[in-house]
Formats: sequence, structure tokens, C-alpha cells
Amino acid sequence: MKIKLFLGLIFFPTLVFAWPWSIDMVNQPSIKPQEGVMTPFPNRSIPVAGIPTKVNNREEAKPLTNPIPVSDASLHTGRTLFKIYCAACHGLTGKADSPVSPKIGAISLVDSYVQETLTEGWVFGTITFGSYVMPAYGKPRGREDLRGSNDLSVEERWNVVNYVKHGLLKDSQAETTRTAAAQ
Ligand code: HEC
Repeated sequence: MKIKLFLGLIFFPTLVFAWPWSIDMVNQPSIKPQEGVMTPFPNRSIPVAGIPTKVNNREEAKPLTNPIPVSDASLHTGRTLFKIYCAACHGLTGKADSPVSPKIGAISLVDSYVQETLTEGWVFGTITFGSYVMPAYGKPRGREDLRGSNDLSVEERWNVVNYVKHGLLKDSQAETTRTAAAQ
């Protein structure tokens, strides 16, 4: 007797969940994802947002010109992305002063090497394809096998380039002044 009661208590909640009305909310007349035939794109439609990556490696990216003009909005986006994606290794203002910078050999991005010698295209290519130690942030066209995880869209990468080339140095100098004033 006791055992029946025990089993009943164990199985009763399970049975209740299995009643037909338990899944009423799931079985709605609405169209489920992947259900039916997807509406085809109109003939000759092209994506309106997004610039395709047209290059296959950093060398090819070197002469590219930045399609996104330097503006407050672009610098703002670039700065935000920089802090999320680049600061961990290159430091918040690019001076290679994050705790991991010396461990992995991340270079300062405010030195003349990056600010003057490297072209904007090369910086874009570095973000897209990665460098020796540095990871890639764009999935190169046709090379899905590469380690890039497509974290940054083409536009986002150019915004970061704008920030690295036209905002980072100023921010880093402002930070140095602030720190000096605080001492
Ligand atoms: C995981 C750490 C790491 C992250 C994150 C990282 N970098 Fe780097 N980066 C490095 C290291 C290490 C080097 C130097 C060695 C090398 O070239 O791989 C480098 C080199 C560079 C160079 C110089 C390339 C050259 O040709 O000498 C640039 C420019 C650069 N990084 C920009 C960026 C930008 C912009 C971001 C963010 C989108 C970023 N990095 C994110 C580690 C990182």
C-alpha cells in the first residue's frame, strides 16, 4: 500500500505535465520558425547594409582607403568597440599598458609606427585577418576555415580604424594629462 502511494506521488506531477492542455501555449496557430516556405527575395535584390570584404589578406588590404569618413559618430563607435575588443591587450588608450600586454607582446598603438607608418588599410587588414599573435576579427571572404569569428562587421572594423588613427592618440594624451594632474 505504502509503495503504491509512494509511486503515485512520484508519478502524479509527471502525468499532470503530460495532459493535452499542458502544451496549448506551444501549439498556437502562429507560424513557427522554419515552418513553411520562406518568402523568396525579390528578383535582383541586393543587401542595402554592409560592405563586403573584397580582400583576401593583409597585403591586399594595405592600399584600401577608409570608406567611412572620420566623424564624431564614427569615432564614438570606434572608441566603444576598441574598449571592448582591443583594450584587453593594447590597453584602454592603446599604450600597451594592460596587465596582459607585456605577456603576449601587444604593441603600443599610439607610437609613430602605428600612427604614421602603417596605412589605414593595413590596420583594417590586421583587424580583419589578425596578425602573428593577434586574433582575427573578420571572417575573410571564402576562408571560413580561418580562425576569424566575424565578431566585427566591415563597417565596425573601419570605425575602429578611424578611432585608432584619429582618436586614440588624443585620448591617450588626455589621459596622461589627467593622471599627471591627479598626482
Ligand atoms: C589577444 C590580444 C590582442 C587583441 C584583443 C588585439 N590585439 Fe592587436 N596585437 C596583439 C599583439 C600581440 C600584437 C603584436 C604581435 C602581432 O603582430 O601579432 C598586435 C599588433 C597589432 C597591430 C600592429 C600590426 C603590425 O602590422 O605590426 C595593430 C594595428 C593592432 N594590433 C590593432 C588592434 C586592434 C585595432 C584591435 C581590436 C580590434 C586589436 N589589435 C586587438 C594582440 C592583440
